[in-house]
Amino acid sequence: MSEDPVIIASGLTKQYAEILAVDHINFKVKKGEIFGFLGPNGAGKTTTIRMLTGLTKPTSGTAKISGRDCVKENLKVKQKIGVVSETSNLYNELSAWDNLTFIGGLYCVDKSTRDKRVEQLLRAFQLYERRNDHLASYSKGMKRRVRIAAALIHAPEVLFLDEPTSGLDVQSSRIIRTLLRELNKEGMTIFLTTHYIDEADQLCGRIAIIRQGRMVVDGSPEQLKSSLQSERIVEVALSGSGSDFETFLKAEPTVKEVTRQGNKYHVHTLNANSVLRKIVEFATSAKLEIISMSTSQPSLEDVFVKYTGLDAVQLERMELLRAVKGGPQRG
Ligand SMILES: Nc1ncnc2c1ncn2[C@@H]1O[C@H](COP(=O)(O)OP(=O)(O)O)[C@@H](O)[C@H]1O
Ligand SMILES: [Mg+2]
Repeated sequence: MSEDPVIIASGLTKQYAEILAVDHINFKVKKGEIFGFLGPNGAGKTTTIRMLTGLTKPTSGTAKISGRDCVKENLKVKQKIGVVSETSNLYNELSAWDNLTFIGGLYCVDKSTRDKRVEQLLRAFQLYERRNDHLASYSKGMKRRVRIAAALIHAPEVLFLDEPTSGLDVQSSRIIRTLLRELNKEGMTIFLTTHYIDEADQLCGRIAIIRQGRMVVDGSPEQLKSSLQSERIVEVALSGSGSDFETFLKAEPTVKEVTRQGNKYHVHTLNANSVLRKIVEFATSAKLEIISMSTSQPSLEDVFVKYTGLDAVQLERMELLRAVKGGPQRG
């Protein structure tokens, strides 16, 4: 029984008027996994979580949690899951204690169990000392922790979090990641969305990359990285190079992929030596100057660029690169 997947999405699809927000997504999450849904803004992460948690109906396809259909058995599913959504469901003018007690009441947790659980959660989340202060006086990071605690009040089997560290400082994000790891060690299955590549790498046993409503790849962070491992990347900038150069690169049999970042080309190849020589030949015959040229190993950023097809300018605009470069630190 415990071998059965806890979450199953089959052909899950959501159409909003003209927008196909989620397009026939299939995946399974096993008990005890931390599964990350990684993708740029607008990829369909929130819509997917909303369908899995019964907040919105799929246009087609099904989602099941512990064998229960998320639409047909919505109430039973709600008892099994905790949800930390994009927006807060808490009251600023109430204390952490009262917020958690109130939400425990909504889930019909009886009073003595509720009091014990509220205390346990507030202690575990290092909020107990401040339990009687109004949330209005809490930092952003503390409020986020109260929201996670609130999602756990009815002891759910699966925890869903939509961008759990989005907008938080490094320290608060680190505390939350540590908390999630601890919950997972105790057996909690966790499904989270994030646009922080590094966060997904640190936290998740498995990652699905989603783009424009479609899952483009899934696997462990190691699998995703090693899928590019035998590749090298030649980074090159030529004076006045344009579409001719790109066409030339793409026609080379050893070149797997070419992406452009500003005036630099990133050439993915299994044979860096040959590509370097070809570039020199091209530059010489086209009378172009080589401004810079180097080779490197692929990074997680390259993995993301490869699978989403987005270039650096687009990623930067979507805050993805900033997330990689200045985002969460290891901890
Ligand atoms: N309620 C809605 N009505 C219409 N379009 C929506 C609605 N919610 C989301 N969308 C659209 O669906 C796409 C996916 O959105 P969303 O799931 O919020 O992405 P993400 O969470 O990955 O940023 C976007 O194009 C968004 O504009
Ligand atoms: Mg979202």
